[in-house]
Amino acid sequence: MWAAYNVNVRDYLALAVILKRCLSLGATMAKSKFEYVRDFEADDTCLPHCWVVVRLDGRNFHRFADKHNFAKPNDSRALRLMTKCAQTVMEELEDIVIAYGQSDEYSFVFKRRSNWFKRRSSKFMTHVASQFASSYVFYWRDYFEDQPLLYPPGFDGRVVLYPTNQTLKDYLSWRQADCHINNLYNTVFWVLIQQSGLTPVQAQERLQGTLAADKNEILFSEFNINYNNEPLMYRKGTVLIWQKVGEVMTKEVKLPAEMEGKKKAVTRTRTTPVPFHCDIIGDAFWKEHPAVLDEDS
Ligand SMILES: *[C@@H]1O[C@H](CO)[C@@H](O)[C@H](O)[C@H]1NC(C)=O
Ligand SMILES: *[C@@H]1O[C@H](CO)[C@@H](O)[C@H](O)[C@H]1NC(C)=O
Ligand SMILES: [Mg+2]
Repeated sequence: MWAAYNVNVRDYLALAVILKRCLSLGATMAKSKFEYVRDFEADDTCLPHCWVVVRLDGRNFHRFADKHNFAKPNDSRALRLMTKCAQTVMEELEDIVIAYGQSDEYSFVFKRRSNWFKRRSSKFMTHVASQFASSYVFYWRDYFEDQPLLYPPGFDGRVVLYPTNQTLKDYLSWRQADCHINNLYNTVFWVLIQQSGLTPVQAQERLQGTLAADKNEILFSEFNINYNNEPLMYRKGTVLIWQKVGEVMTKEVKLPAEMEGKKKAVTRTRTTPVPFHCDIIGDAFWKEHPAVLDEDS
């Protein structure tokens, strides 16, 4: 009895020593003495349960637009290219539920409960910015057939957290209101230059202190332009949300022997980021698309 017990204890101790050696060997292999520098990395985890918004903005796009002959005051090719990049970002990355873009900016909203890259802010921001910028160059030729890309564009990014549905909706409303203000201003500004021959300085002076109603009035009475008839893409920007779309494709169908090799059109549905140029400030959009803010969609 005693002998057996002693043997067991000795075995146990021997095993413990071996185990300890292995562990310390493993530890020295995994950790070098330089490992401590990891502690210098800042913790940039996004607060749980908040909507994470990444907004990108074109770097010095004033100059970029000039050099690449963008149409004034708006260039549909440039806006559609931006949207193509945003769709690519949504398809390639995880957990983006809605995006909104206008001019040279795009905002991406990650779902509240996203745990992508442990919610590290720098990961969200850099993945969005790099995927967007490479897409911009990659797809350039599809939108600007006759206009070579003269130099590489860049985008800055920022991350902002919104704690409630309401603050998120107010954020998106703010961006859309900004789109409206800028587009109305630019439309009058450029029509004064292009049709009335004013210099940029004169056009700016003419518009100083004018309200939206005054600008609408100038457009209507002097240029016969009803601002409300301008294309929605320019006035409202672009909203991207996931939608099921039917996709028709021809496919080789097997089955009945006599029909072998016949092609058949098959429709299958696919979920994809679809652009809308609609108002997102009012409640209608959110009532129509409740899934966007739904916690577990
Ligand atoms: C830009 O907007 C103006 C006025 O809003 C419009 O007349 C013009 O067709 C637009 N430009 C392009 C490239 O579509
Ligand atoms: C946010 O809105 C969605 C959609 O209406 C709803 O399902 C969700 O419960 C709301 N979240 C909060 C915290 O109110
Ligand atoms: Mg910019």
